[in-house]
Amino acid sequence: MSTTLTSDEYAAFQKFLEESAGIVLGENKHYLVTSRLSRILSDNKLASYTELLARVSRDSRFREIIIDAMTTNETSWFRDGQPFEIIKTHVLPALARKNNGPLRIWSSACSTGQEPYSLSICIQEFLTMNPGLLRQDVEIVATDISPSSIEDAKAGVYDEISIGRGLSGDRKGRYFQKRDGGWEIRKDIKARVTFRNLNLLQSYAVLGRFDLILCRNVLIYFSTELKSNVLQRMVDTLSPGGFLILGGTETMSNYSDAFQMIRLPSGVIYQLKSRS
Ligand SMILES: C[S@@+](CC[C@H](N)C(=O)[O-])C[C@H]1O[C@@H](n2cnc3c(N)ncnc32)[C@H](O)[C@@H]1O
Repeated sequence: MSTTLTSDEYAAFQKFLEESAGIVLGENKHYLVTSRLSRILSDNKLASYTELLARVSRDSRFREIIIDAMTTNETSWFRDGQPFEIIKTHVLPALARKNNGPLRIWSSACSTGQEPYSLSICIQEFLTMNPGLLRQDVEIVATDISPSSIEDAKAGVYDEISIGRGLSGDRKGRYFQKRDGGWEIRKDIKARVTFRNLNLLQSYAVLGRFDLILCRNVLIYFSTELKSNVLQRMVDTLSPGGFLILGGTETMSNYSDAFQMIRLPSGVIYQLKSRS
C-alpha cells in the first residue's frame, strides 16, 4: 500500500532537514522523500508520514534514521581525478616544507570512505615516488553526518560495484585484498584514516587544525548563508597557508575572501591568504 505525502508533511520534512542537516530540499521533490522514506514507514508499521514526523520530534534515533535516508552518499574512488593530481604535484610538496608535527587532512563529507582512502593511497604513492621528501606522519580525519556511511567506511570493505567506480585494476590489486563479501582496503592505507560522525552545522573545534581540507560535493545541498558559514568556520580550522579543495562543480564565489585561488594546469585549489 502506498501512503500519500501531503504538502504539509512535505513542508515539515523540508524544515526538519534544513534545520538539522542544512540540506535544502527544493520544491516538488515529493518523489525523493517518498522513495527514501516509504520503507521506514513500513518497517516501523507507521500509517502515515505525520506519524513518522511525530516520532522524529520525540525520538533522536528516528532523527538519525531520516537524515541517513535523506542524504545522498554518491561517491567514487579518486573522484574527478584532478584534485588528487594537485595534491601530489602541488599540495604535498608545499606541505613537506613544514616541520612542525604531522600533516593533517580533513575529508569533511567522506560518505562511505572512498575520498579519504583515495587520499591515503595518494599519499602512499607520493611517498614511494619521492622517498625522504615527506618526513612527517600524515593523519586523515574523515567525517560525515550519515552514521551508516561512517560504519561502512570504517569497515573498509567494498563490493564489486563500488570497488569498480573509479579504481584502476592496478590500484585494486595493489591496495585491496579479496575476501568474503568484497574487497578490503590494505591495513596500512586504512591506518592513516580516523572516521567520526560530524554534522557540518556543528562546531569543528574537537577536530583540531588542518593543513588541507576537502569539502567536496556537499555544499551543493546547502543554502547560500550556510555555505558561507561553513567555509568561514573552515578558515578558522586551517593552519596558516592551509589548502581547501571543493567539488568539481563548486566555486568559492563570494562566500569567503580569506582564500586565494590557485589555478594549476590540472585544476583549481584554494589557499588561505596570510593574515597581515
Ligand atoms: C555526494 S556525497 C560526497 C562524498 C565525497 N565528498 C565525494 O565528493 O565523493 C555528500 C555527503 O555529504 C554528507 N552530508 C550531507 N549533509 C551533511 C552535513 N550537514 N554534515 C556532514 N555531512 C553531510 C552526506 O551524508 C554524504 O555522504
